[in-house]
Amino acid sequence: MSFPKIRMRRLRRTESIRRMMRQVRLSPDDLIHPLFVQEGISEPISIPSMPKVYRLSAEQAVKDVKEVAGLGIPAVILFGIPSKKDEKGSSAYDKNGVVQDTVRRIKNELGEGIVVITDLCLCEYTSHGHCGVLKDGEVVNDETLEVLGKVAVSQAESGADIVAPSGMIDGQVKAIRDALDREGYTDTAIMAYSAKFASAFYSPFRDAADSVPQTGDRSSYQMDYSNPDEAMREIELDIEEGADIVMVKPALAYLDLIHRAKYHFKTPIAAYSVSGEYSLVKAAAEKGWVDEKKIVLEILTAVKRAGADLILTYHAKDAARWLATGK
Ligand code: PBG
Repeated sequence: MSFPKIRMRRLRRTESIRRMMRQVRLSPDDLIHPLFVQEGISEPISIPSMPKVYRLSAEQAVKDVKEVAGLGIPAVILFGIPSKKDEKGSSAYDKNGVVQDTVRRIKNELGEGIVVITDLCLCEYTSHGHCGVLKDGEVVNDETLEVLGKVAVSQAESGADIVAPSGMIDGQVKAIRDALDREGYTDTAIMAYSAKFASAFYSPFRDAADSVPQTGDRSSYQMDYSNPDEAMREIELDIEEGADIVMVKPALAYLDLIHRAKYHFKTPIAAYSVSGEYSLVKAAAEKGWVDEKKIVLEILTAVKRAGADLILTYHAKDAARWLATGK
């Protein structure tokens, strides 16, 4: 049957019909709020390329997390900015490091009321800004694994529910799973940044987290955006190594991969709507060229429609508010 018997517009006629027919519904439950915590600061530090995103002290972070929980967002992911960096990024596994300290404070106050995820990478902690141990200008894989295992254990010890390795080091999920299990943290989950591309969309984040590589770039470990099959393989390997959740990153320019991964694997899929995606929207909205609320809800719904079970986004608090009140 076709036109004129079929008229697709019948089910678009009124707002009530449209509401009834809506297939994909974005909810605060889908969202993860990223948070930057910096050691040794007393006032929030704004990030020029990411309007309304701040680096916070551990104490201020707890306040922010309470607000996040109050908005119905189930999880936060923490990025740390230490006051001391070295070649090996050893402050990443300091018992009293800024992330460890913040996790303990959050867990003391909110307990199971919020899921705490810790980003697990060395680039914020190394003096050279790369995601692993550097030798002759190269990130050396297997030596990095040992350090990542230590960081994972230290984050789990402080109370993290989920650790999220983001360095694209081969074997990192296995090394972290082994290290956690060896120390008895068998219930600490791993959300792996599995298909993480070398992307121009990360530059505002590198200002935010002070993690600009001092030499070269990340293309010898992060993926080339021209390679969808390689992304599927990375995801498959991470699942085999023990990832509980796998991630595609960035999100908006990679919806094809979110979709492929969702329908190929049974493992939950997270998508990271990254700093550059946020900044593009913010800049256009500031100029009055787009309606921020409408465009954010459209983008996040599209990421969910593609197949993401979870979305990491700097718009999380605004989106949760808009979803709750329509304002
Ligand atoms: C750390 C890390 C990065 C992001 C998340 N974890 C930066 C990078 O790979 O350079 C980017 C997040 C964003 O842009 O919002 N490796």
